[in-house]
Amino acid sequence: MAFIRNCWYPAAFSSAVGEGPLRRTVLGENIVLFRGEGGAIAALDDLCPHRMAPLSLGRVRGGGIECGYHGMTFDGRGACVRIPGQDTIPSRARVRSYAVAERLGLVWVWMGAAEEAEASLLVDLAQFDDPAWAVVPGEALAIGANYLSLADNLCDPSHVSFVHTSTLGNAASVGVPVRSRAEGRETVVWRWILDAPAIPVFAQTGLVQGSVDRWHYYHYHAPCVAIIDFGTAPAGLIGPDGDRDRGLRIFAVHCITPVDEGHCIDHWFHLRNFGQGDAALDAALNRSFRTAFDEDKAILEAIETEESSRPGFRPVQLAIDAAPNRMRHIVRRLIEAEAASPALQAAK
Ligand code: FES
Ligand SMILES: [Fe+2]
Repeated sequence: MAFIRNCWYPAAFSSAVGEGPLRRTVLGENIVLFRGEGGAIAALDDLCPHRMAPLSLGRVRGGGIECGYHGMTFDGRGACVRIPGQDTIPSRARVRSYAVAERLGLVWVWMGAAEEAEASLLVDLAQFDDPAWAVVPGEALAIGANYLSLADNLCDPSHVSFVHTSTLGNAASVGVPVRSRAEGRETVVWRWILDAPAIPVFAQTGLVQGSVDRWHYYHYHAPCVAIIDFGTAPAGLIGPDGDRDRGLRIFAVHCITPVDEGHCIDHWFHLRNFGQGDAALDAALNRSFRTAFDEDKAILEAIETEESSRPGFRPVQLAIDAAPNRMRHIVRRLIEAEAASPALQAAK
């Protein structure tokens, strides 16, 4: 399977890039992240061109990274700036550098040619910088499955009624159909469940009584970002098409790193419009999310095992697959566009 190269992939939470170098693998490529001049994050091929020592085994010095074997030092653009014991620097003494951006508390790496990096393709969420919203850090969850299996899951609200019964779902939504549409790189799938009991995640806040209307809007930005807008309001208060900010509203954000064909990392965190500054609520909600996402991990890893042991198996298609199919169509179309474009090919 090919990957889209000309796009941004999350490599790490910004907070994970500290004083020292950090190795990450994206699309099968080993990358070293470090804070260079002025704290700006740099991303280089994690390989010293001398004896192939991973640069991540070295140390960060003077805004560059010093190889841990013989001390060759590279700046944030991959140019060699020092070779201990000699004055001349061979022209081949350089390392590939990746374009880097920070957004939504994450470090994003452009996997195509750095000069082609397109800032407008970074996914944004206005509420992230809005003081009315709590932004609660989450975790990086390693999953032994192809990233598109996780993407399928994140275009699929129907599974919560079965997989996440102690957190994100309950029986009230079992028979409620989902609707979906696609536009550009985005797939949206949603449904409302009216006049039903609250799901456990909201019931545990103590802020919900009686029957509620609740919603799920799953926004999937191909290839690797899911923003799930879900919430709860007293039955009849806002109704579908009403102002969801009048209810208890959460954005669960998943930024997926495709590590290689069979592994990915789900960088998850959440935003919410209630309980700002409530550390106990932060922890309680994160516990629920951790439980839920571990349930997803278990089922996705089991599926990955079955898929790899039965190549060519043709799954039955259901109505709930419309959105995952749309998402995969978008990814396929982008891969085909890159394959057909000599300019994009050259960027590889
Ligand atoms: S292996 Fe890096 S300087 Fe020798
Ligand atoms: Fe799930």
